[in-house]
Amino acid sequence: MPTLLKIARMGHPVLRVKAEPIADPTAPDVARLARDMIATMDDADGVGLAAPQIHVSQRIIVFKAPVRGPDMSRDGDVDNRVLINPEIEPLSPDRASAFEGCLSIPGLRGVVPRFTRIRYSGVGLDGRRISVEAEGFHARVLQHEVDHLDGVLYLDRMENLALLSFEKELPLLMGAIDSDRA
Ligand code: NI
Repeated sequence: MPTLLKIARMGHPVLRVKAEPIADPTAPDVARLARDMIATMDDADGVGLAAPQIHVSQRIIVFKAPVRGPDMSRDGDVDNRVLINPEIEPLSPDRASAFEGCLSIPGLRGVVPRFTRIRYSGVGLDGRRISVEAEGFHARVLQHEVDHLDGVLYLDRMENLALLSFEKELPLLMGAIDSDRA
């Protein structure tokens, strides 16, 4: 049975230190950690979770990735993935801004610019190299989670703190943004 882990909230120092590489991705305790992280992410309705967020300063993330069949017909489905010692390389200098939230900063959402196309690489629980090209929301989730491994929170990436909002007030903020554009 997976164990639900306590999520560290902003202000806890574990969220602000650079996490350590994992020496043996195939070790049973790493598989156990990944299983518990996925259960914790699902329980909290998250789309990604990095180990520092459950007070473990090691370079492992879990996330939900879109499942794409050959005909793209299953694009709506998601799959739980585990990535150990991940790295991210932008494939284009283009960035896009969108709202993000974080399980370590509950109740808030903020607009964050992120690279639109990346390649992420790392190692899976079976010890094999993983290398994937991602774009859009999938690329955004990966950049957010890998930032956690370097002690970076999405607030640090925001360029306009007027675009930070409590979830409940978000419709008001969105309305204000829309009327600005009108
Ligand atoms: Ni987060």
